[in-house]
Amino acid sequence: MKLDRLNEQLKIERVSHLINNEEVAKLLYQTASKGFKNGSPWEENHFFHSLEAKNSVVITASLPRTEELGQTNQIVGLLVASLVSTEAEIYLVVVDETFKKRRIAFRMFEHLISYCKENEITSIFLEVRVSNEAAIGLYQALGFLRVGVRKAYYSSPIEDAIVMELKLQLNEEKQE
Ligand SMILES: CC(C)(COP(=O)(O)OP(=O)(O)OC[C@H]1O[C@@H](n2cnc3c(N)ncnc32)[C@H](O)[C@@H]1OP(=O)(O)O)[C@@H](O)C(=O)NCCC(=O)NCCS
Repeated sequence: MKLDRLNEQLKIERVSHLINNEEVAKLLYQTASKGFKNGSPWEENHFFHSLEAKNSVVITASLPRTEELGQTNQIVGLLVASLVSTEAEIYLVVVDETFKKRRIAFRMFEHLISYCKENEITSIFLEVRVSNEAAIGLYQALGFLRVGVRKAYYSSPIEDAIVMELKLQLNEEKQE
């Protein structure tokens, strides 16, 4: 699919339905399985709990089913974060392999950032494997700065995590 057509059809939204969470969790798991090199790091029930949790924010990027997309899962990207007090923490972000490098993750983050500002969040934090160049590139492009390192934070394989933070400026009307 051409990039401009994809941009026209792509729908970025915060999942807020309270019914059907089991069905949605299944779809999110399938999308994550198509985006991570070694399969989804979360089971279906992790997605289910994120959908149910009051302080979670789940953002999806989806496309309408078309003949061109065939059996491709309708949800092509997802982002899961949690909001506590004035801080947000990113748990997971992934884009279906077929749809990478089309600014989908960037747009999901833009959506999250607007939502965070509306909810008076002042910082977004995340951890990322030191070897994950694509994710680090994405976070840097969004303005995240490196604020620390957690030694041997990850297992299989053991690896350090870089801690990154994006400080948010609240909207002017909220600052007055
Ligand atoms: C990281 C990931 C979510 C990026 O998604 P994406 O939709 O392909 O990224 P975008 O197209 O929005 O990229 C935005 C910017 O990020 C950076 N970027 C994205 N992919 C990159 C790559 N492979 N290498 C270096 N920089 C990259 C670039 O600066 C890019 O801007 P550009 O388009 O002007 O070059 C995707 O690669 C992915 O799903 N990886 C597997 C899951 C994962 O590791 N998640 C993070 C840990 S939970």
